[in-house]
Amino acid sequence: KYLQDENLTDECRELLRSLPSEKGWLSTFLHLFQGFWYGTRHMNGVLYTQLQFKAQDSDVLLVTTPKSGTTWLKAILFALLNRSRYLEPHKKLDHPLLQKNPHDLVPSLELGLYVEDPNPDLSSFTSPRLFATHLSHVSLPDSVKDSKCKLVYLCRNPKDTFVSLWHFTNKLRLKEMGTNTLEETFDKFCRGVSSNGPYWDHVLGYYKASLEMPHKVLFLKYEEMTEKPSEQLKRLAGFLGCPFSEDEEANGGVDEILRLCSFDNLSKLEVNRSGKLPTGEENRLFFRKGEVGDWVNYLTPEMIERLDRITKEKFRGSGLKL
Ligand code: A3P
Repeated sequence: KYLQDENLTDECRELLRSLPSEKGWLSTFLHLFQGFWYGTRHMNGVLYTQLQFKAQDSDVLLVTTPKSGTTWLKAILFALLNRSRYLEPHKKLDHPLLQKNPHDLVPSLELGLYVEDPNPDLSSFTSPRLFATHLSHVSLPDSVKDSKCKLVYLCRNPKDTFVSLWHFTNKLRLKEMGTNTLEETFDKFCRGVSSNGPYWDHVLGYYKASLEMPHKVLFLKYEEMTEKPSEQLKRLAGFLGCPFSEDEEANGGVDEILRLCSFDNLSKLEVNRSGKLPTGEENRLFFRKGEVGDWVNYLTPEMIERLDRITKEKFRGSGLKL
């Protein structure tokens, strides 16, 4: 019955009937498609993106696992790529990040532009176009893989990712549904049953791609961004072919972007305290604590042991540590 309730195309409904499904973290189900779990109401967008999105060589695509700091990186990428337009002294007050949420400035493909529309109008995007996605590497549209467009991938420690996701989904749940317990969602997360999960497969797919194609995929970690933000921002700028000049660095151009995009600055802006996304989520829900290691306040020793064991097993031999 739930399939009838959703606004899905007949083809999408037909496909969903053939896929393994499990109760999700929100009101709908999760469906295992091409090895990854997607929520019912996002499946149209996933299919439309895969089939319809045509990447251009100059595009920049931010790819993240949910709750790994997407909002932060969207802000940073927008500020970085548009710095000559907005960050000159006399233009500072007009910076779009002060008036708009990063998700409005850097829209998601499958959760935003293509969520209900197979042919969104992309004509207002100027080059380099900047989009975001949570799609796994295997599920990227062919044009993304075949073109020279660049992928910036961001992930985060699995324990912090899980805790952030648990908080976020509980806030998105309708009041009458009550909250999900930490235990039940933890078990789902460990079994890979979370939006765009299994978390580890998502990360590994892009990690391997970044090793094979370092000019195309940049692999970033939330923890490294927090620990050495200037270094990582300069690395990002170099990767995107717009390195900071000596003058810019000397004049504080790097720090200016980091300050503008900081948790403290963005979370206090009116638009991020009271605004909403076109898809209905409140902007403030994307800003919780913004800290590394908050999991110590939530996970039991048994949970820590289980999650660490899975991470070790999954990442064994890859050289990746999170
Ligand atoms: P916490 O829940 O641990 O606080 P996403 O943007 O992918 O949904 O991720 C949300 C997480 O990033 C949340 O983590 C949120 O607080 C954090 N975050 C949002 N803006 C940030 C910023 N400017 N700097 C650092 N972390 C930020």
